[in-house]
Amino acid sequence: MGLFTKKPIDSLIHDSSDGETNLKRTLTAGNLIALGIGAIIGAGLFVRTAAAAANNAGPSVTIAFVVAALGCAFAGLCYAEFASMIPIAGSAYTYSYATMGELVAWIIGWDLVLEYAVGAATVGIAWSEYLNKLLAIFNMHIPYKWCHSPFEICTSPYFPDEFGMHGLINLPALFIIFMLTMLLIRGTKESAFVNGIIVISKVAIVIIFIILGWNYMTPANHTPYIPAATTFVDNYGVAHKYGGIWGILGAAGVVFFAFIGFDAVSTAAQEAKNPKKDMPIGILGSLVICTILYILFAHVLTGVASVNDFRTAGKEGSVVYAIQTYMHGYGWLGNLVTVAILFGFSSVILVMLMGQSRVFYSMSRDGLVPKTFSNLHPKYQTPYHSNWIFLVFVGGFAAFVPGDIVGDMTSIGTLFAFILVCAGVWILRITNPELQRSFKVPMVPVVSTLGILVCAAMIAGLGWTNWVRLGGWLVIGLVIYFAYSRKNSKLK
Ligand code: ALA
Repeated sequence: MGLFTKKPIDSLIHDSSDGETNLKRTLTAGNLIALGIGAIIGAGLFVRTAAAAANNAGPSVTIAFVVAALGCAFAGLCYAEFASMIPIAGSAYTYSYATMGELVAWIIGWDLVLEYAVGAATVGIAWSEYLNKLLAIFNMHIPYKWCHSPFEICTSPYFPDEFGMHGLINLPALFIIFMLTMLLIRGTKESAFVNGIIVISKVAIVIIFIILGWNYMTPANHTPYIPAATTFVDNYGVAHKYGGIWGILGAAGVVFFAFIGFDAVSTAAQEAKNPKKDMPIGILGSLVICTILYILFAHVLTGVASVNDFRTAGKEGSVVYAIQTYMHGYGWLGNLVTVAILFGFSSVILVMLMGQSRVFYSMSRDGLVPKTFSNLHPKYQTPYHSNWIFLVFVGGFAAFVPGDIVGDMTSIGTLFAFILVCAGVWILRITNPELQRSFKVPMVPVVSTLGILVCAAMIAGLGWTNWVRLGGWLVIGLVIYFAYSRKNSKLK
């Protein structure tokens, strides 16, 4: 058997319904949309939007959201077709095992670690930022070095004592990752319930901010809407293409993070009651709702505060900064947003950690990663060993790497996986036209090709440092594949 051996789809579906290592089927379509929105609205909106405006696109970050949404919609349709056809756990990894063979499947599974595990670390770091906003309400704050990575330097004019100091470790980020791992080990059903409450408050504050902030927009902040193309050098000496088309594409790559998660719904396919019908509804439903909210939110945020704010004092906790500085009389909103964001980020981290353990659960059952990743807890039926191992990995990133770096690594890794999924749906139409698809992507190969092109354009916009990081990650993965996974693959 070679590198391109494919896992037969019948055996995939059979695997999902046998054995003692089985996950419980408890989630409905409504649960899945909630799971999707729970995973989607988070640090991408409340943290990365301001970063993209500051470094890449100014107010035209709204256009970047449109580009990112288009890429996601095309890829999302492809995900939905796969999910309706192969209704089992594992996401893009599982789909590619059936379509493009073991090596590509491994690459995607490995790549999804960037999406889910490194993504969870990114949101953990964002959580730490807003925790400081919460403490500020009580005139407290965590010393800079205990809530930033060693690669960050304090540049906030609010804390003159700490100005120029380096971070040491991001303890709050580590704390929240630990707490949520514990919750996850308790089980999906409980987690989905907590998630439902959080999703409602998260959507509510986004809508309230849009409505109330609308009157506080300053036309000057939106002029020019698309800044002229130049280069912006940030505090760390990193040059970004700012303004023009490249600014928009770079920003699209950055805010693409805000959409990550709708595909996490597909990783829960094995826990869905009626996966064929509910998966497309869950994936596309959550994507549409979020896109509308994001564009409006970004328009208001960049209208209320200026690009210069997002480069200086408003760099961290940008949304609360904008409210407190420019929307006088709405201090209560700032506090409410802070609390809702802290809970909201938690639900994102939860779904990402869950997605991660589910992908490795599938990979482990296929023999590509050690068996320990599919050991289920005797009482809670969750892959608890996997949860523990990823606690160490995710916690390490959250504690020691800056949010901008892990955020962009998450984006680029996910974009790469999306490209492979778009290609996969097309390949499977040709190789297995007879397979039953309860949801079909319209106009293949047009839609799948557009998905590939838009995602590739965002990867191009993210710049060479991110290409190198992605390349490095994939090389490590290939070494592991040839040293371990290939020999232990069950398919052989
Ligand atoms: N889309 C998720 C977020 O923005 C990952 O936090």
